[in-house]
Amino acid sequence: MSDESPLESRLTEQEYFRPPTDFVGQANVSDPDIYDRFDENYPEAFEEYAELLDWDEHWDEVLDDSNPPFYEWFSGGQLNASYNCIDRHLDERKNQAAFIWEGTDSDERQTITYQDLYNRVNATAASLRDVGVEEDDVVTCHLPMLPALPVTMLACARIGAPHSEVFAGFSAQALADRIDDADSDVVVTCDGYYRRGEFLNHKEKCDEALELAESDVDSVVLWTRHDELHEDVEIDGDDPYVLADDLLAENERARVDPVSRDAEDPLFLMYTSGTTGQPKGCQHRTGGYMSYVTATSKHVLDIKPEDTYWCAADIGWITGHSYIVYGPLALGTTSVMYEDTPDHPHKGRIWEIAERYDVDIFHTSPTAVRMFMKWGADYVDEYDFDFRHMTTVGEPIQPEAWLWYYKHIGDEDAVIVDTWWQTETGGHLITNLPALKDMKPGSAGLPAPGIQPALYDDTGEPMAPASGKAGNLVIEKPWPGMLQTVYGNDERFIDEYWRDFSDTDSDDPEDWVYKAGDGAVHEDDGYFRVLGRLDDVMNVAGHRLGTMELESAVSEVQDVAEAAVAARDHDEKGEVPDVYVVVREGVSASNEEVRDRIIEAVEEEIGKFARPDRVVFVEDLPKTRSGKIMRRLLENISNGDELGNTTTLRDPSVPEEIRDQVHGDD
Ligand code: WTA
Repeated sequence: MSDESPLESRLTEQEYFRPPTDFVGQANVSDPDIYDRFDENYPEAFEEYAELLDWDEHWDEVLDDSNPPFYEWFSGGQLNASYNCIDRHLDERKNQAAFIWEGTDSDERQTITYQDLYNRVNATAASLRDVGVEEDDVVTCHLPMLPALPVTMLACARIGAPHSEVFAGFSAQALADRIDDADSDVVVTCDGYYRRGEFLNHKEKCDEALELAESDVDSVVLWTRHDELHEDVEIDGDDPYVLADDLLAENERARVDPVSRDAEDPLFLMYTSGTTGQPKGCQHRTGGYMSYVTATSKHVLDIKPEDTYWCAADIGWITGHSYIVYGPLALGTTSVMYEDTPDHPHKGRIWEIAERYDVDIFHTSPTAVRMFMKWGADYVDEYDFDFRHMTTVGEPIQPEAWLWYYKHIGDEDAVIVDTWWQTETGGHLITNLPALKDMKPGSAGLPAPGIQPALYDDTGEPMAPASGKAGNLVIEKPWPGMLQTVYGNDERFIDEYWRDFSDTDSDDPEDWVYKAGDGAVHEDDGYFRVLGRLDDVMNVAGHRLGTMELESAVSEVQDVAEAAVAARDHDEKGEVPDVYVVVREGVSASNEEVRDRIIEAVEEEIGKFARPDRVVFVEDLPKTRSGKIMRRLLENISNGDELGNTTTLRDPSVPEEIRDQVHGDD
């Protein structure tokens, strides 16, 4: 961004931005009373959220908090998520597009109406039953941005089988680990998809995962990217693959009654990185989750059925689950889905699509905004589109990038909502209701209605509200979108999210406080500015990655004695992993060879998106006297910061030597 532009310097001086009057006039929520209603009438006010859905059976109780932290929402209620996303819209809008899908080539498009979606989901649900899927079986999916992905998720939801979608960029090993953890008998994948115009054989990863997995998978349903199996992809007679097209042909006109699920029955699992090498299966319930994502889609994203909405995230992450599939479809809107990358075949592709479908609401990550900013406004200016509302999610957005987004993408007349939330929280927790609160660049904003965030210090004491100081971000009261548990591991659920700031012996919900794992500042105007993770989880281009997962991949590499991973701040990607390695003594391989092996190992264990940025060979790693690696010091070194306290180290000269090695020429 050029500093000379008078508008931009004026913008930087200004702290708050009012939502445009036109926006306020048409917003779904324009009555400020909503905040008081939720404060004064917690948790009952959340009934307003549940009432946005159609229930087969009304709930008995809004919140049962008798056994914290295993809260139950809308218990006694029954509903089906696929019914709420599809069937209930048919009377009014069966011919309206639910999805407009655009493939890698701009002339390859599909418009999937609500009626088409109904037909496809029914046929797929019947097909899944044909391969043996029953209610409560976890179906693991490994699908990219093809219509098959939301169709499969909704088909699972229709028959009450929780889905566990693994982002398509994850490797065979990562897929195998998740198949094993969820003990899935059925996997759903596809033959391939396009990346920058090239066909990528995706089935290969599943082939390998089946060999790596400990559990026996009975069937793999294989969707095809084109009308038939791609010429580069083969099915071996002994493999458990079944072509989705063959199953669908049998079930073309099938109708599958949506299964009534208890509000507390799980809807899906989503694995996410934590502080150990093993990802956690965040388990989301049906009733509370659906209520929360539907209401936040309506109130925060301001979605109306007649809108064209585009969340340019991947459905393989939580953002896509909540704000491409479940929330927007429950509201009956039209969503855009795009298969390939933003720079294919040119850097104006996103704006070309926005113009073509006349997108009203646009949703992306700060990483993407920084990338667009780097490419420059010329690519944007070529196209004619007019957003009313724009969202950012996933990382803190620097005011500079916010201002660029506001000016060049929003044309200074769209609102921006910065939404803070997590895989675990199901939906937005800290974000402004756009017509009611002013925007403030770089700050996620105020708590959503009924949400009670706070900052605690490291000793576990609550800090004074709005102190302007940084602390540990926690949530003091349960909310309907929260995860139920870590799949199959209640103890880990308590350890990761509750133990640090709760009295775990108490059965009083007031004594239970959810730890987000983020640091934040609560500013004097009540706005929260989220700083980033405090634990060993980093955020690479909006993807959450655990330091320990990377380290365990690196430690197994031949000739590596020890390794530690540190997050380094990066202009575009937010953070990138730096790997510090000690090589075994007497190794003949060159550092280059070991580096290549490390990169390959990370790509294989996790996926290409997790590739380390720098591999630094060192003599020793900074350790405490008890032998614990001090990653924080490596982070200081990676980022060129002052070294923190080194007095507790076994050998304080170690970090200094590493610093000289890394920054010797600075
Ligand atoms: C970070 C993504 C600042 C945060 C929905 C959180 C953010 C992690 C924001 C969750 C934001 C998410 N401002 N930081 N608006 N939104 N984060 O599970 O560190 O992929 O803990 O969920 O992303 O990442 P996850």
